[in-house]
Amino acid sequence: MKIKNTTPTVLVFDSGIGGLSVYNEIYKQMPNLHYIYAFDNEMFPYGDKSSEFLIDRVNSIIEHISNNYLIDIAVIACNTASTICLPSLRSKFSFPIVGVVPAIKPACQITQNKCIGLLATKATIERAYTTNLIQEFATDCTVKLLGLSELAIIAENKLQGIGVDINQLQTLLAPWLSGPVIPDTIVLGCTHYPFIKEELEILFPNTTFIDSGNAIAARVYNLLNEQFDLDTINTQSNENIVISTNYNKHVEKLADNLVKYNLNKYQSINILCA
Ligand code: DGL
Repeated sequence: MKIKNTTPTVLVFDSGIGGLSVYNEIYKQMPNLHYIYAFDNEMFPYGDKSSEFLIDRVNSIIEHISNNYLIDIAVIACNTASTICLPSLRSKFSFPIVGVVPAIKPACQITQNKCIGLLATKATIERAYTTNLIQEFATDCTVKLLGLSELAIIAENKLQGIGVDINQLQTLLAPWLSGPVIPDTIVLGCTHYPFIKEELEILFPNTTFIDSGNAIAARVYNLLNEQFDLDTINTQSNENIVISTNYNKHVEKLADNLVKYNLNKYQSINILCA
């Protein structure tokens, strides 16, 4: 039996603004849900944090938010957190938790030259979760790995109005630009990277870039549709909330910009470090 005329609340979480690339896809498919976009700007970037720290931190943030809001589904829109935190989150919270992990499988299905690249944070590249994904789905492909801490920061800066330096990007991606075989498919294994896809396409004009945003939106739809009669919800919420863990002038400016994503209320929370 589905619940009619009730608007489910979707929590989308990331270390920074990268998760907006996932939020965007979910929002495009289901504009009438109630959204909370939360980001841990106090501890950004996650790519250089230990697994133990991230498990504690992400659990504490989701707990804090779910104590204050009734959450129907949470999306961990961060590969770095998802590849380590999903088991602990799923054992702790009763609402469904959707994680974002690198789109290795779809990349292997579309590559022509059987050479794919995985671009992600250093932490994601090193995770056992990622190694297992590659072993399971990429047996007939060469997978080139590049773990970079700087790219998420470049993307974050771009959203705050600071231009991307193509020369810097070229230096960072040099290992793939000069190899004998250039990947024809690159997995954007960090949710920040879709925001610099335009610049990456300048460096790799013949490469297809893929991310997990669409697949996550479909998964959220399917999970919510089991419980809610989504077709009966026909008005947009004007109470969509942005939550950050640190308040500063950048966030103030960002919060103004987020109104265009229909995220119209801002709040900051205080999470104590373990
Ligand atoms: N957006 C995050 C991801 O998908 C990580 C960026 C960071 O905090 O290092 O991995």
